Amino acid sequence: MEVVMQQDLSLTGKGACLVLACQEQGKLGSYARWVDQQCGGALSHFLATGDFTGEPGQCQLLYALPGLPYERLLLVGVGSGERLREEDLRKSAQALGRAVAHAKLPELSLAVLDIPVAHRTATESAEIWLRGILDAQYRFDHHKKPAKHPYRSLERITLIASEASAELQESIQLATTIARASHWARDLANEPGNICTPTWLAEQARQMATRLGLGCEILGPLEMEELGMNLLLGVAQGSRQEPRLIVLRYQGGAKDEKPIVLVGKGLTFDAGGISLKPADKMDEMKYDMCGGASALAAIQAAAELKLPLNIVAIVPASENLPDGKATKPGDIHRSMNGLSIEILNTDAEGRLILADALTYAERFDPDVVIDMATLTGACIIALGHQTAAVLGNHEGLIHDLLAAGRKAQDRAWELPLFPEYQEQLKSPFADLSNVGGRPAGTITAACFLSRFAESYRWAHLDIAGVAWQSGEQKGATGRPVPLLVHYLWHRAKSKS
Ligand code: BES
Ligand code: MN
Ligand code: ZN
Repeated sequence: MEVVMQQDLSLTGKGACLVLACQEQGKLGSYARWVDQQCGGALSHFLATGDFTGEPGQCQLLYALPGLPYERLLLVGVGSGERLREEDLRKSAQALGRAVAHAKLPELSLAVLDIPVAHRTATESAEIWLRGILDAQYRFDHHKKPAKHPYRSLERITLIASEASAELQESIQLATTIARASHWARDLANEPGNICTPTWLAEQARQMATRLGLGCEILGPLEMEELGMNLLLGVAQGSRQEPRLIVLRYQGGAKDEKPIVLVGKGLTFDAGGISLKPADKMDEMKYDMCGGASALAAIQAAAELKLPLNIVAIVPASENLPDGKATKPGDIHRSMNGLSIEILNTDAEGRLILADALTYAERFDPDVVIDMATLTGACIIALGHQTAAVLGNHEGLIHDLLAAGRKAQDRAWELPLFPEYQEQLKSPFADLSNVGGRPAGTITAACFLSRFAESYRWAHLDIAGVAWQSGEQKGATGRPVPLLVHYLWHRAKSKS
């Protein structure tokens, strides 16, 4: 799959299908109007039928337009207004992607940048258009027998733009890198728990690290014992699968520069442990490693983009299963940073494995630490499946993550981390309990993490609602990889 730029606005006929944007009331952009003239007004003729209203996301394939050297023309509706609205851009880009995938188009020429988007440069909107198309190409079907009519995937996108700027070239690179990274994260997460074990996940990380020349260290139970990672070990003790701590390092910056540390929850299957989950939808707990996958995918993207940053990715990986040896409610474990934890609910395991990983992060003397985790069901109640929650101990970092989410169309929203909430984690027998009751479940989970992140700037993304979809489109979404890559990209840009 490649994306090339075409500065020449003439109709080359390259690309089997020309994609044009059209607003409501048949209002075409400047380039589309010119194309209409070239085919003797055939396009306005079609629009005059009223069959195509131009509402955001409406798509229409047209064949054999006279005088047009493309076999097909695909119109995509983008709504009304002087400038395309953010949400209409997303809707249109996603619908276009679906239409392209549905038609199994092998290549296309994309000429949609003639309609300006509110609060976005043409370069920035190009990235969203491209990602809409690329993301719809994603398939996860290698466990099925080969289809009768195999999917013909898109091989080339030609981006038609009046100005072939260096920025546009960069946005193409950003879009394709984000797509590749988030597709990898989806691949890892969609793989079932009997394949995607902690050991397997570590092996995937190692292979990527080798390919891109990243440092890679993988810790097993013996090393964890030496380090005193009893919370991670405690979660893993009910499983036949050994836990792993995956540590990858990318050195794109100066040797002495403090790294950005990404920590991701890599719970490869969460049955709840002795506090067993109900059977309904329990299969979806194979996605409980989406945070870990996003950390691995983000460091891959940074390395591919050769960003001038130092980055460390840390993924504590474990299963959480019931067993005769499993941690029981009421058990007390001592964390790597010395706090004793009373485990009242073994299903609140994510915060436990993250706590030791956050303590481990201290040794890198981080500039900032960002963790990503499918941590609480309460987050879905609070923010649904649209928005990730962000909480942390540093306003500037939180602001940057929110901004990156907006740019990436992978949004997050802040929840408070007021000290009052810490009260809910008090235990009569240990320094901390691992649950804080039903009220403010996402916040008390973050409060727990905050106790292990006191020595650096830290933010936590609860991605329980956004990391995967149920229903017809069931599967991992690749979020928050776009947010993370935008954050890293912005950090790199603001250096120069
Ligand atoms: N992985 C789950 C969180 C989760 C639940 C994500 C449902 C997506 C959908 C996490 O380990 C968990 O079980 N959390 C508990 C915490 C509770 C026991 C305090 C929860 O949210 O119910
Ligand atoms: Mn759980
Ligand atoms: Zn979990």
